[in-house]
Amino acid sequence: MNYTFASDNCAGTDKRIMKAIEKANEGFTLSYGDDVYTKAAVEAFIKEFGNDIKVYFVYNGTGANTLALGSILKPYQAVITPAFSHISVDETGAPEKYTGCKIITCATETGKIGIEDIRPHLDVLGTVHHSQPKVVSITNPTEEGTLYNTDEIKEICDFSHEHGLYVHMDGARIGNAAAALGKSLKEITADCGVDVLSFGGTKGGMMFGEAVVFFNKELGVDFGYFRKNGTQLHSKMRFISAQFEAYLGDKMYLDNGKHANDMCRYFYEQLKKIEGIEFVHEPQANGIFIKMPKRLAEEALKEYFFYDMDTKEGKVMRLMCSFATKKEDIDDFMRILIQNK
Ligand SMILES: Cc1ncc(COP(=O)(O)O)c(C=O)c1O
Repeated sequence: MNYTFASDNCAGTDKRIMKAIEKANEGFTLSYGDDVYTKAAVEAFIKEFGNDIKVYFVYNGTGANTLALGSILKPYQAVITPAFSHISVDETGAPEKYTGCKIITCATETGKIGIEDIRPHLDVLGTVHHSQPKVVSITNPTEEGTLYNTDEIKEICDFSHEHGLYVHMDGARIGNAAAALGKSLKEITADCGVDVLSFGGTKGGMMFGEAVVFFNKELGVDFGYFRKNGTQLHSKMRFISAQFEAYLGDKMYLDNGKHANDMCRYFYEQLKKIEGIEFVHEPQANGIFIKMPKRLAEEALKEYFFYDMDTKEGKVMRLMCSFATKKEDIDDFMRILIQNK
């Protein structure tokens, strides 16, 4: 079975990351982040985002999201997020468990929300009988392969701040977003007013490791305690840090994000030639969501594993590209569709 398009998590580790891990494997150093690799990785984040940040490394994306939210919310508060967001549907209730908060979801056709989706949920502010919205959480690129541009992010941030809410961004694929928008990491986050970012490394080619970056520094003051209390303080931290040093220092997030997006665009162009394939959205980053005739899907599934979801309109299939996807992989997938069309 071929897993090339099942998820960007199905790809291996970028060779440059493997080298960085190997280099960090030399000798002894202090644990829990008191080491030169962590210092260098923090510096690499400062170089991207400026001095006004607090950054903490964690093991995985669910941990980054859950702890980022948990550290800024009180149990009577709530998070507003799109219905299909990872925190809402793919984290097995961890955000609810660790924050004790309600997650309020907004239905969306595109995976994105705007201020008109958020506004109706703010009616309850100041009423003691209702969970109090305190964070808006958006993902960029979204779980549906779409993108928020900087104006849209800024509008959400300004509106949220006007109403006393913070903005969290799930940036599991933030490198893909930066590459697709043609802007720096800072321009698509801190400069728009995002308060806290879950910064993804794994999907972009790291072996493991994500970061929580506070642009609203005060919110991050106690995060070190929160991270340990929340089981995400990695003892051999140097191995996460060395990866981040290389991932940011060599702008690997951008190269790899761009490559995955380019492959996705190529895939899209090929798929468009097949009659009967419908695109749920035009892909804007590294994920394609399509409906295809049942027979074609069955043939493709004989050789390729990919996820499909039942929706009101029928089955939607997700095809993901990664830093490791090659044109030949796409051509091979297309061979099945062409032979069976
Ligand atoms: C949007 C998004 N956020 C976060 C994550 C991170 O999850 P994990 O805990 O598997 O690293 C994922 C992984 O699929 C994701 O797609």
